[in-house]
Amino acid sequence: MTEHRFEVGFIGAGNMGEALLQGLIQSGHDAERIAIADKSAERVRDLQARYPGLQAASPEALAEDSDTLVLAVKPQTLPDLAPTLREAVTRGQPLVISVAAGITTAQLASWLGDGTRLVRAMPNTPALVGAGVTGLFAAPTATPEDRDTATRLLESVGRAIPVADEELMHAVTATSGSGPAYVFLMIEAMQEAAQSLGLPPDTALELTLGTLAGATRLAAESDEPPAELRHRVTSPGGTTERALQVLEDGDLRGLMRRAMAAAAERSRELGQ
Ligand SMILES: NC(=O)c1ccc[n+]([C@@H]2O[C@H](COP(=O)([O-])OP(=O)(O)OC[C@H]3O[C@@H](n4cnc5c(N)ncnc54)[C@H](OP(=O)(O)O)[C@@H]3O)[C@@H](O)[C@H]2O)c1
Repeated sequence: MTEHRFEVGFIGAGNMGEALLQGLIQSGHDAERIAIADKSAERVRDLQARYPGLQAASPEALAEDSDTLVLAVKPQTLPDLAPTLREAVTRGQPLVISVAAGITTAQLASWLGDGTRLVRAMPNTPALVGAGVTGLFAAPTATPEDRDTATRLLESVGRAIPVADEELMHAVTATSGSGPAYVFLMIEAMQEAAQSLGLPPDTALELTLGTLAGATRLAAESDEPPAELRHRVTSPGGTTERALQVLEDGDLRGLMRRAMAAAAERSRELGQ
C-alpha cells in the first residue's frame, strides 16, 4: 500500500465524526495523522483548537491521502458528495468506512468505484461517551485486514459487532442505532411515573437512571438470561408482579416488535 499522509481522514466532522476522532486520539492515535474536512470552517477551527495537532484538508485531499477514509456526513449528502471523490479514491485507494444510515455498499461502490474497499458501520450516540455499540458490515472487496482496521476504529468508542449479511443492517439500525431513543423514552416515562407517585423530579431521575444502569450491568455480567433475572425479582403476590402484569397486559413486547419493525422499514426506505 502507498504511504499516505493521514492514518484516518474524516469527511464530515459533526457529532459522529467528533466522537470517533476523539476516541482515536484518546486511545493513543497521533492527532497529527488524523484529518478532517467539514463544510463549516468554524467547526474545523473549533475542533483543531480542542484537539491539538488535528489536521484539516479538502475532502479530495483526504480521499487521496488517507489510509482510512471515514464518511460521516448525513446520508442525504452522500449522493452529491461521493461521486466527486471518485477520482481521488481511485488514486489513493483508501479503505472507506461509511457511517451513513441506510446507504448501502452497492450505492457507495457505484459512486466511488467498483473496486473500493468498503465497510459500512452503524454506530449509536453513546459513542459520544465511549459507550457505543456499532454493527459492522464489510463488503467482499474489503480484506480481513480492513475488517480489523474498521473494528479497531469503531472499538475506540465502544463495542463493534460484525454482521455477515448487509440486509441485517436494517435490524441493527432498528436495535442499536435507534435503540438509545427507546431507552431515553423509558427514562422519561419512569421519571414521570415516579413523580406522579410523589417523588421530587431530581430524586425520580436519579432512581430511574441508577436502576436502568444497575439492571443493565447485572444483565450483562450475570450468567443468567434476563428472563431468569426478572423471575428472581418477581415474588408471587408482590409489588413487581403487580407492575409486570400491567406491562404484559398492555402488550409491551408487541409494542416493541411493532416499533422496531417500523424502524427497520424506514431504514429500508432510506436505502432506496
Ligand atoms: N448521530 C448518531 O447517532 C448517528 C448514529 C449512527 C450513524 N450516524 C450517521 O453519522 C452521519 C453523521 O451524523 P451526525 O449526527 O454526525 O451529523 P452532523 O452532526 O450533521 O455532522 C455532519 C457534518 O458534516 C458536514 N458536512 C455536510 N456536507 C459536507 C460536505 N459536503 N463536506 C464536508 N462536510 C460536510 C456538516 O456540516 P453542516 O452542518 O455545515 O452541513 C456537519 O458538520 C450520518 O450519516 C448518520 O446517519 C449518526
